[in-house]
Amino acid sequence: MTISKRLFALTIPAILVAGAAMAADAKKGQEVFENSACMGCHNTDTDEKRGNAPALKALYKKEGMTEAKVIEKIKKGGNGMPPYEEQLEKDQFADLLTYLKTL
Ligand code: HEC
Repeated sequence: MTISKRLFALTIPAILVAGAAMAADAKKGQEVFENSACMGCHNTDTDEKRGNAPALKALYKKEGMTEAKVIEKIKKGGNGMPPYEEQLEKDQFADLLTYLKTL
């Protein structure tokens, strides 16, 4: 085996391990949800609307719901939903999205 091939063989598993460690985490996402006031407006355990805020239970099973729409809504807000674009770090956002998929 040449040196470069050997390096390659060592690098791939290292990247996979690093990737798994950085993968978005639903548990952390729940913390973001609880600490970002989302909880104050949105129900997650019933289908019941609270004020104007729709319940987020089974969010991704709602008719026509896509990840792009969810991201857009959280970033830009509108119609009573505050914008979170400036408030959440990239990894918090990824964790949050992962959590929302578990609802
Ligand atoms: C002050 C109350 C309030 C807070 C805080 C809030 N939201 Fe909302 N959210 C709303 C309202 C009202 C809507 C409906 C907006 C609309 O009809 O366009 C909404 C819509 C949404 C939607 C689209 C749901 C659907 O069925 O169309 C998502 C997803 C969402 N919010 C997620 C979040 C997340 C995640 C957080 C926390 C980071 C959050 N919201 C914080 C009030 C809030």
